[in-house]
Amino acid sequence: MNLNQLFSECKGCKACHLRYDAATQVVPWETGDNPEIMFVSEAPGMQEDKTGLPYQGAAGKLFTKMVTALGYKRGEDLHVTNIVKCRPSKNRTPTYDERHVCANKWLLREIFSVNPKIIICLGLASGQFLLDKPDTKMKELHGTIYTKTLMYPNIPGDKLAGTEKRFQIGVTYHPSYIIYNGYSPAVKRLIWNDVTSILDNVGVKYTSRNQHT
Ligand code: URA
Repeated sequence: MNLNQLFSECKGCKACHLRYDAATQVVPWETGDNPEIMFVSEAPGMQEDKTGLPYQGAAGKLFTKMVTALGYKRGEDLHVTNIVKCRPSKNRTPTYDERHVCANKWLLREIFSVNPKIIICLGLASGQFLLDKPDTKMKELHGTIYTKTLMYPNIPGDKLAGTEKRFQIGVTYHPSYIIYNGYSPAVKRLIWNDVTSILDNVGVKYTSRNQHT
């Protein structure tokens, strides 16, 4: 199944209660032309639920500013997605179980299909889950590159079912951490430094070396 087919299937997902709680639609992902970088965040919020696209609200604006400063265009150069595809009520963090159910249905297939050179997790919800380190704190996870073997879900009839592949994964803070810290330049710099050092480590080019402010 190619990524477009997967998108259409995901759009119609009714597999769990999240689709019926607060969400008005499924928010699958935004992609580009064979993107090398895949950003994985937590879950759609209100603006994402309204528009059907990831990273549209206040955190999305900060994210867009950062990737623009890196010389990337959203919708062309990047794959942007969330670990769960439906907005949880009151914007709560999805439970580990919800992440597990949704990722096995969509995110893992998405990762194998996009086959990115680097996956950058924005926040603990995706970082802990994809690295299978549910108890590790952000202080320990961020800025480092991990090589992680991921398994394609066991979907009957799917020729990739159960296959394994190694991916490069890095983690940084969720952009909303900037907002919680009063738009602190120091927090922006922290995320910028994490992302650029992750990209440097895997040899993915970005066009600006200016510090993001
Ligand atoms: N926060 C997220 O984790 N994902 C989005 O798409 C928007 C805000």
